[in-house]
Amino acid sequence: MATIAPAVLPPEIAAAIVNPVAYGEWNGIKQKFRWARDNMPVGLVQAEGYMPFWAITRHEDIMTVSKDNARFLNAPKSVVLGPVAVQMLTHMITGGSPHLVRSLVTMDAPEHMDYRKLTQSWFMPKNLAGLEGKIRGIARASVDAMLATGGQCDFVHQVSALYPLHVVMQILGVPHGDEPLMLKLTQEMFGGEDPDLNRARSVELTPEQVTQFVIEAVRDFEGYFMKLAADRRADPKDDVATVIANAVIDGEPISDRNAAGYYIIVAAAGHDTTSASTAGAMWALAKDPEQFARIKADRSLLPGLIEEAIRWTTPVQHFMRTAAEDCEIGGQRIAKDDWLMLCYVSGNHDERVFPDPDRFDASRGPNRHVAFGAGVHQCLGLHLARLEMRILFDELLDRIDSVELAGTPQRASSTFVGGPKTLPIRFVPS
Ligand code: HEM
Repeated sequence: MATIAPAVLPPEIAAAIVNPVAYGEWNGIKQKFRWARDNMPVGLVQAEGYMPFWAITRHEDIMTVSKDNARFLNAPKSVVLGPVAVQMLTHMITGGSPHLVRSLVTMDAPEHMDYRKLTQSWFMPKNLAGLEGKIRGIARASVDAMLATGGQCDFVHQVSALYPLHVVMQILGVPHGDEPLMLKLTQEMFGGEDPDLNRARSVELTPEQVTQFVIEAVRDFEGYFMKLAADRRADPKDDVATVIANAVIDGEPISDRNAAGYYIIVAAAGHDTTSASTAGAMWALAKDPEQFARIKADRSLLPGLIEEAIRWTTPVQHFMRTAAEDCEIGGQRIAKDDWLMLCYVSGNHDERVFPDPDRFDASRGPNRHVAFGAGVHQCLGLHLARLEMRILFDELLDRIDSVELAGTPQRASSTFVGGPKTLPIRFVPS
């Protein structure tokens, strides 16, 4: 085992990695990750107000950690980065758990697979094939709404924030009329750090205030889903809500907290992420008329467009793991209980795997991005995300002849779930 001293990242790089604004600004953080990949691929982040953690920045090391689920665990510490103050508050509120929401991503074996299996078949291609017609209907209605704007709109507000929401809510079984509430709560839960998305709509929030707002959003979610669960126990339907409400593991119904966490992860993970990569695809096409024309003319290029949009946008910007034992990653010694950040943004821009990584290239192949993670926690909704994006762009490319930016898009200020929060475009209907 190597005996090298810990590689400590320079303070300005550490400060950027924990700073939500850096992810909103985007180019700076990508340059800093590049430095880390080249000089200190497994580097210790010592940032004020945060527990020290290792930033894993190379694609290869992210894959190794993600796939070694016995050595790198999700349950012991938070799977999402947060300041110490937030962690203490979470412990207090939950009575000792590092996780505000108890869901698939915060579980380890053997419990994790028992829970994952409950809904897994719903999200497999075979089952999704039966939903294609319904999804296409939702996609058409979204494109209708975009065309109704007459040629100029904000693509995020008009299309991409709403379409994946509608799809996942249909699968979950949430009534259409409650979707605005689901959108608001998800944005408040994931966007606590962004002044445009948090509850207070304020720049001046302390970490404690951010947590308080996130907690309120989680409570509202739990309250909503507990009512939905009661309804589905009394009156079962053909939806994921019914599966969760009536789930039994080892002969026992699952607890209310676990059921609520399950609903929340499907509801929340299922749309903001897909919304961000859908907007990413549109952003790239609006900047590149040649690529737009090529894909409009040849729809066999659509899967490549979708995969590249997911890589280029990287909606989920990190997840954390905890080392279960002393080990070594990328030549660096890691001790038991150390906290590690899987820096997906960095892995998806690693020149060792993606030549000219900043360039959006729909024909990039192979495109082995890490945006969906890897190992046993690999995104449960990846087939759904790909399918809904492919259908939307298929419909959209039928209906518009060209598209361009009508202003400067903005990315959300968030260390966790990010991507475009505004995308002003002008388009010419076909
Ligand atoms: C482009 C869109 C999406 C991206 C980039 C994305 C990304 C991710 C990532 C990075 C993880 C963690 C993987 C790991 O730890 O190795 C994850 C987990 C998960 N995702 Fe997604 N996701 C997307 C769409 C969806 C959709 C549409 C759903 C709908 C159900 C969904 C549901 C989940 C669930 C339930 C998990 C937890 C899986 C587990 O821990 O076993 N995601 N996703």
